[in-house]
Amino acid sequence: MPNNTLNLSGKHILLGVSGGIAAYKAPILVRRLVEAGAIVQVVMTANAHHFVTTTTLQAVSGHVVRDDLWDQAAEAAMGHIELARWADHILVAPATAGTIARLANGEASDLLSTLCLASNAPVSLAPAMNQQMFAHPAVQRNLTTLKTDGYQIVGPDSGDQACGDTGLGRMTEPEEIVQALNASSAKIGTGPLAGQTLMVTTGPTREAIDPVRYISNHSSGLQGLAVAEAGRQAGARVILIAGPGVDPCHGDIARFNVTSAQEMYDRVHEHLPETDLFIGVAAVADYRPANAQQQKIKRHTQAEDQVQLPLIENPDIIASVVQAQQAKVVVGFAAETNDTLQNAREKRARKKLDAIVVNDVSDQRIGFNSLDNAVTLIHTGGEIDFGVQPKTAIAEQLISQLAELFAPKLQA
Ligand SMILES: Cc1cc2nc3c(=O)[nH]c(=O)nc-3n(C[C@H](O)[C@H](O)[C@H](O)COP(=O)(O)O)c2cc1C
Repeated sequence: MPNNTLNLSGKHILLGVSGGIAAYKAPILVRRLVEAGAIVQVVMTANAHHFVTTTTLQAVSGHVVRDDLWDQAAEAAMGHIELARWADHILVAPATAGTIARLANGEASDLLSTLCLASNAPVSLAPAMNQQMFAHPAVQRNLTTLKTDGYQIVGPDSGDQACGDTGLGRMTEPEEIVQALNASSAKIGTGPLAGQTLMVTTGPTREAIDPVRYISNHSSGLQGLAVAEAGRQAGARVILIAGPGVDPCHGDIARFNVTSAQEMYDRVHEHLPETDLFIGVAAVADYRPANAQQQKIKRHTQAEDQVQLPLIENPDIIASVVQAQQAKVVVGFAAETNDTLQNAREKRARKKLDAIVVNDVSDQRIGFNSLDNAVTLIHTGGEIDFGVQPKTAIAEQLISQLAELFAPKLQA
């Protein structure tokens, strides 16, 4: 009986099983997907045969299991490109370190990796491996690459492992994988920003004075996090460039942590060619110490009482994004303490932004470190005052306004 709380009914799920010990759970996963109403076809890697049989997977899925790119009979029945087109969603579970590396490299060296490249369906991966393997920088790097490419990563979980270790690396339980798939299949392809890539910057930056001191500001990054999450819920693929101390975000958001304004600038420009909508929420330091010292500056090294700290200007990230003309729509945030609206109007015009969102940070009830905010969205055609509201509510309304206002530009 289909589980009516899930909406996988009639969905074509291509399940890729790779050669990890958690492959023994693949038949249960197939059962859960079928119970949720999905039509499941299974593709195994050559190494997966060491852990689970085609007979079992065939029996539970009700379809012939594919494992070879060069299987002439299978190709004659449904060619691999047809299979790639058949899939509404590809799920790789378990995803071994080896399979993850192949996908991150864009390899087409076996049937499963070829299908992932040849399909335009969303791909979800459920990594499963020893905790030491999972923590390895190479695996983490590959997962970051895959998230940036738009893959959804489900899990892994923490706990006892088949190898006797305890830690992060256990495959997420089949029931939870199905829930995650269900949630993402409800989102993907729907919402006002479906098909768009949104880049959000958030948080403060830190500008080093010496190895232990820095110049920064009070930004918590909460407003930008909320904008990134609202963008994800509106169907966008989201890239988040976060300054230091910003809270965790949803696993589907491709997140890059940076410290200084220069690092934020570099990351933004690295991912700008993929970006449709850019929203710069970060409180980027305008200036940095001209000569950051390699060693801690000691007391009493100066003859006078006053210590001079010469500053130089940081790159203007938002202005550079406008100048690059890669994103279709560029939106800035402005934190003002006086003449709020007038300063923001001038800033929008000077920087040639499509829109600017301004808040008065001198108001203690809102802004930095508060859960509430009050902003005005200023665009060519007018101004919208959002009033005092939680940052999450502001983010949702802002995303829906921007999606509506700039639909012609975004869809051009
Ligand atoms: C008993 C055993 C268990 C293994 N379990 C895992 C595992 O859980 N995760 C993993 O990434 N690799 C695991 N490996 C290593 C993979 O099988 C190996 O890297 C293989 O090349 C993966 O191939 P595939 O990704 O093409 O399926 C295991 C190997 C053995 C011998």
